[in-house]
Amino acid sequence: MSHHFVEFKDVHFRYPDGSSALNGASFRISHGESVGIVGANGAGKSTLLMHINGHLLPSSGSIVVGDLQLDKHTRQDIRKKVGLVFQNPDDQLFMPTVFDDVAFGPLNLGISADRIAERVEEALDTVGCLKLKDKPPHHLSSGQKSAVAIATVIAMRPDILVMDEPASNLDPKSRRQLIELLKAFEHTKIVASHDLDLILDVCKRCIVIKDGRVAADGPAEAILSNKALLEGNNLELPLSLQKQSINKESTSMDDMAKLNHLLHHWKEHNDEHAATYREWAAKAEQAGKSELAETLRGIYGAAKNLSSLFDEAMKKT
Ligand SMILES: Nc1ncnc2c1ncn2[C@@H]1O[C@H](COP(=O)(O)OP(=O)(O)OP(=O)(O)O)[C@@H](O)[C@H]1O
Ligand SMILES: [Mg+2]
Repeated sequence: MSHHFVEFKDVHFRYPDGSSALNGASFRISHGESVGIVGANGAGKSTLLMHINGHLLPSSGSIVVGDLQLDKHTRQDIRKKVGLVFQNPDDQLFMPTVFDDVAFGPLNLGISADRIAERVEEALDTVGCLKLKDKPPHHLSSGQKSAVAIATVIAMRPDILVMDEPASNLDPKSRRQLIELLKAFEHTKIVASHDLDLILDVCKRCIVIKDGRVAADGPAEAILSNKALLEGNNLELPLSLQKQSINKESTSMDDMAKLNHLLHHWKEHNDEHAATYREWAAKAEQAGKSELAETLRGIYGAAKNLSSLFDEAMKKT
């Protein structure tokens, strides 16, 4: 399956009202990669993802998925390889029942009717929505709709899984289940999200989209810890990394507390310390260790003059 790569070359896309949403997007994603797509509202993430399964066709430039160049003739075949979970689940769910919605994709793939129920139930179970199978999708809560939308795609067992903001309506437990599902998915996965912790957890690579083109592309850890890059794209460090930097600050506050404690100790016992160094210097001299004695006398002198040394250091730094 090594041919299941995705390649965008200088892709431009303009919506019918004239808005240019993609302005020269280029990248290549190899089989098995996990790629996060991040960027500000309106950057072009959803537009880009809708090109990967041929839901939209580029105004110019080229897109290759596996061995197929995307155009109006190949888009049906490309959709068999690429499963896209839309940002808005209402765009995905249109059948009278949840079961029918999840069955729709596999039926179109030509899966036999007797194996459909098994596929549908497995997919719904994976997202924790099996008990909803007979409900009409428009009676579901937003989070339930999102979970069912994910089931419609995983039921097709795609080679390339593309998800647009899959966690935005999910409660913490369902979000965690989604992360585990994504981690277990072995083939190519491409996930657009403002949930940068999810991206960090699931994706090895991260592409930043700005004004419809690639602004940065690299290892997720490097991109998602680059505060300046993120802030330039209306994003913030993932919460998990923010916690780490708070921890770093608190460590340095602890260090300040330790230093203060030491300084107080020195102030209180300085004369005793100085006397100790003088005694040690004398002992070393007696033992014929004159170099060590010299060093200890230096420390004794410095300790005696500690307050003036401190004042001097404060002036210099
Ligand atoms: N159907 C449409 N008709 C006209 N313009 C559109 C349409 N959909 C999106 N756009 C415009 O295309 C640009 C990219 O939108 P897109 O939805 O791809 O952004 P996004 O990065 O997914 O944003 P978000 O983070 O809000 O989901 C925006 O300027 C948007 O206004
Ligand atoms: Mg979007």
